[in-house]
Order: sequence, then C-alpha cells, then structure tokens
Amino acid sequence: MNFERPIVEHERRHFPGRHALEFGFESGTDERRSTYVEYLERAVNNPKNYIDRGGAGEVHALGSGQICIKLMKERGDENIVDAYEQEIHYDLGNAPRTEAWFIEELSDFEVEGVRSPALVEYLEGPEYAAIVMERLEAINLQHVLNGKFPFPPNFDLDDFFERLEAYIYELHDAKHLLHGDLEPRNVMIDKRTGHPRIIDFGRSMNLAVMPEEKRQRLSRAEELKVEEIRVKVMNRIKN
Ligand SMILES: Nc1ncnc2c1ncn2[C@@H]1O[C@H](COP(=O)(O)OP(=O)(O)OP(=O)(O)O)[C@@H](O)[C@H]1O
Ligand SMILES: [Mg+2]
Repeated sequence: MNFERPIVEHERRHFPGRHALEFGFESGTDERRSTYVEYLERAVNNPKNYIDRGGAGEVHALGSGQICIKLMKERGDENIVDAYEQEIHYDLGNAPRTEAWFIEELSDFEVEGVRSPALVEYLEGPEYAAIVMERLEAINLQHVLNGKFPFPPNFDLDDFFERLEAYIYELHDAKHLLHGDLEPRNVMIDKRTGHPRIIDFGRSMNLAVMPEEKRQRLSRAEELKVEEIRVKVMNRIKN
C-alpha cells in the first residue's frame, strides 16, 4: 500500500502566482536573510513541495521534507486578535503569531504518545506570515474519512481514541489550553505508530484567563467532540 500523497496540481493552491515573502528578521546579516528568504520563496513556489491546505493556510515541504512551512495571508493589524479576546472576534481566528505561540507552547507536550508538531520559527512580512514547523509523517484523518487514503495498517480505533481523549483532557487540565477547532481535518494519524497527531492551533484559546463557567463549558464541549469524531471514524470503518 502506498500512503504518499499524490502531487496536487498547482491550481488548487490558495495563493496562485509567485509568492514574494519579504520576511524581516531581527538578527543576521542582510545577505544571509535574503538568501534564506529566497530559499523559502523557491520552496513554496515549487509545486512538488505542496503538501495540503486548509481554510487559512497552505502547507509546503522544506528541505529534505523533515520540516514544512504553513503560509498564511497577513490579515493586517486591525484583524489581529489576541487569544484572550477570542470570544468577541472568534470568526477571525487567531493571528498567525498567536497560532505560532500555541505551537511553541505545545512543542514539548506529549500525552499517551499524542503530540503536535514542534515549532521551528515564525516569520512575517507585509503580505504573508509563515509558521515553520516539524513536518509530521502522518495522514490527515479527514482524507481517510473521504476515502482519499486508507487507514494505516496499525490503526486501532479504540486505542487511537483513548489516546486522543487523554491528550485533550490533559491539554485542558494541565496546559489550560483549548484546541478550539477539533475536527477530523485537524487530526492526523502517525504513519509509524498509528497514534493521533494534533495540528492547527488557529483557533486555540487560553482557558486560564476565562471565567470558571466558560472554561468548564468549552472544555466539556471539546471533550465531547472527541466522541463525535470517534463515531464518524467508526461509521467509516463499518461502511
Ligand atoms: N506539521 C504538519 N505536517 C504535515 N502536514 C501538515 C502539517 N500541518 C498541516 N498539515 C497539512 O496541511 C493542512 C492544512 O494545515 P492547517 O490545518 O494548519 O491549515 P488551516 O488553513 O488553518 O486549516 P483549517 O481549514 O482547519 O482552518 C492540514 O489539514 C494537514 O493535512
Ligand atoms: Mg486545519
């Protein structure tokens, strides 16, 4: 069986045309900076590196494929939402830099073999912001539900969801963070272990700053979401 993604045609990408990244850096010589940005530009403009996209970002492989870059359009300062104020501006999602903060915060967080990608760095320019992170060797659960890829041979439904449940519980209880967008498209299956991998912290929130009632309500709703996804996956396996 082959779990590799097919090369997706260029047209399906979010941001057609050449990307001019123009990222700024706080340190390093100008020459080194521009060489690096040129390298990133070449990488994201090469269709062979395209991995996948979501509603907000486009993900491309970098280097030999161990890391990847999630490219997002900068939404401008007026739309930058602090995660703490999420309720008011919820439909906008987190600013890319807030998303990067969550990824960094969770870079060492692992529960029952479940984890998220490690952050490498966060970059921003006038038009695009980017998160450079570990590229997961994993299959997107939504793609499996869609029938685009088979379940990996070592996939065990009960084991997978026990682990996912434990991770989400600890995310709330120990890290005081809410994922905020727990959907099959933001859950991946690690190809080697078959364990869950969690991605996309574009709607994550800090539970620590919320009133107790809200914190309980949102945590409970997200914990129930795990069960909802489990039912979807179970039905897919049956059919
Ligand atoms: N670190 C990673 N390693 C491998 N694949 C990834 C990684 N991050 C994202 N992807 C792939 O790229 C897709 C888009 O990434 P992501 O979900 O972060 O984007 P988004 O636009 O914020 O999504 P959404 O529509 O859920 O808001 C994912 O669904 C996943 O298939
Ligand atoms: Mg997503």
